[in-house]
Amino acid sequence: MAISRASIDRVIQAADIVGLVGDYVSLKKKGINWEACCPFHEEKTPSFKVNPVKGIYKCFGCGKGGDSISFMMDVDSLSYVEAIRSLARRFNVELEETESDFREEQIKQSEKDSLQIAANFAQEFFVANLHETDEGRSIGLAYFVERGLRPDVIKAFGLGYARDEWDALLQEAEKKQYSRELLEKAGLILINEETHKTYDRFRGRITFPIYNVSGKVIAWGARMLGKDKNQPKYINSPESILFDKSNALYGLYQAKNAVRHADMCYLTEGYMDVIAMHQAGVENTVASSGTSLTEGQIRLIGRFTKNLTLLYDGDKAGIKASLRGIDMILAAGLNVRAVVLPDGHDPDSYAKDYGSEALQVYLKSHIRDFISFKAELAAEESSSDPIKKAELLESILESISLVPDAVRRSIFLAEAARIFRMPEQTLHDSLNLRVFNRNKRSRNPSEQSSPSPLSGQPGDALLVSQVDQKVKLSEAEDLIQELENTLLRNLVLFGEIKIEDEFTVARYILEEVVDLNFQSETTKKVFTEYSDRQKDGHDVSPAYFLHHPEEALKRSVIDLCAGSYQLSHNWAGKYNIVIPEEEDLLAVSLFKVILQLKRNHILAEIRLLESRMNSENEEDDEMVLLIEISRLKKKELEFSEKLGSVINH
Ligand code: GTP
Ligand code: MN
Repeated sequence: MAISRASIDRVIQAADIVGLVGDYVSLKKKGINWEACCPFHEEKTPSFKVNPVKGIYKCFGCGKGGDSISFMMDVDSLSYVEAIRSLARRFNVELEETESDFREEQIKQSEKDSLQIAANFAQEFFVANLHETDEGRSIGLAYFVERGLRPDVIKAFGLGYARDEWDALLQEAEKKQYSRELLEKAGLILINEETHKTYDRFRGRITFPIYNVSGKVIAWGARMLGKDKNQPKYINSPESILFDKSNALYGLYQAKNAVRHADMCYLTEGYMDVIAMHQAGVENTVASSGTSLTEGQIRLIGRFTKNLTLLYDGDKAGIKASLRGIDMILAAGLNVRAVVLPDGHDPDSYAKDYGSEALQVYLKSHIRDFISFKAELAAEESSSDPIKKAELLESILESISLVPDAVRRSIFLAEAARIFRMPEQTLHDSLNLRVFNRNKRSRNPSEQSSPSPLSGQPGDALLVSQVDQKVKLSEAEDLIQELENTLLRNLVLFGEIKIEDEFTVARYILEEVVDLNFQSETTKKVFTEYSDRQKDGHDVSPAYFLHHPEEALKRSVIDLCAGSYQLSHNWAGKYNIVIPEEEDLLAVSLFKVILQLKRNHILAEIRLLESRMNSENEEDDEMVLLIEISRLKKKELEFSEKLGSVINH
């Protein structure tokens, strides 16, 4: 990364999280915190809290949490670096870039910036043409009005008009000192190789700007008016450093909040369909604009929702052609559903003929899962042909096998069994084999060291072991985890507080746990880093860990420090353990937590040895195991007694 840590710290300091979040949801003050309905999931009572002192947010409904950087990443789907740049702009912090990548990055960035400035200019030009020239009004605007578009929608989608002249844009651009080279790079003008004549790319067309996720216009689709068989209906901007076609989605910028809110995204084909859906109140709609869906576009949608609904016009040929796309979406771990519009209709014509409400009702009542969709589509034509039916079944099993999650796979499988009237078990074996083969192919041979704990059919083992990963950890491990979390929380939040003279909470905790093997990676990392930084005299304040440079670690820490009090209370009741809280942070209650933790580690070890005794492994000497177990049990008893005496204290 090219941005210096010091300037990132300045950004974190300057970023006012209440102001920032307040741009997206309406916050109300509640004690030291601010509250709102969560912008990341649908809810009626607010469980989204912002803590201005710590500079963090946390939703107690959906679990999302982080600091101002994370918030920008989540809400605008930015990368870590993009989020920092965006915050720096907003809070007027100058970023220092570190030497190495600086120049290269700066050149790239400044070229991109110049292209963006040219694109902004062109976008303003097209919009002004539409509204402020006679030609624009009588041809472009008249066309939009005839198609039933409302003024607010024309504005929201930045629709414009390119006049029917050879170089209207070029002339205006040159007045403003834009170089031809730049305009060409931005795809706005074309240069004839032979005559060296220069002319506008878009002429006599209405313009549909394509926005990136953060709302910048990076390209256009331009539709011709009237009918001319010698011209393509749409002309698009070429790719540039601004516009990477396979990573842009038409309408996403206008749709993203609605997508997040509905936790679902409709995918249509055309520019006009997106706009018509939006105008009909179905704002969570995007289009891949003519091209077939790419993996990049799927990933882009996946940043906002895991639920994609494909909208099909009623014509069968179009549907069949797109079925391949479904497999790609499934493999990306998204849920796919489909709605087929009545014959001869696209969303635009349907809304126009029957109205917005009818469209909404239609969409809701005709949505279906892709398995039944695909199966029934083909069942219609193959009902009398067993070979075709077999092929179809194969292709559906192939699709299901792409679904990464085993539980969802088995739901789809049951559905397929029902539609094809086949015994589920028969399909099950065939599916497992596919899954097994695929995973075998993709698995790195050097990583095969963790065999499935279950023997038997290879396919079966695979399915079950994946389900296993989801199964909750055993209760003992949960308890250890909860105790580790408690210690981590106390270390991070109260580590610097002095218990006695120079003796801090951190020192106390760190000395006590020095030979303890933590269960969680987060705890291990934080404890090691805390003690290293402290030795070197570096910052170990709560702020450091709550804004840790490693995004994933930071989120875990925030999660633990902001979010587990409720849980702790449940645990406290269930296991009669003491969880120190901000109010009663005492050495003695920390002492209890540490004793509990040590005792539970011993108990876990005992259980492990006992299971080895029962497994009759020939390499184990039963006598040795027994001696070890009894030694541990004695130790466990010591801890229990100590605990008893503190508890009864
Ligand atoms: P209307 O015909 O105005 O309703 O537009 P539409 O957006 O509904 O277009 P249509 O259904 O004809 O085509 C669907 C999508 O395919 C369009 O939105 C374009 O992205 C793309 N497309 C259609 N025709 C062309 C073309 O001639 N060239 C290119 N590059 N793309 C096209
Ligand atoms: Mn159309």
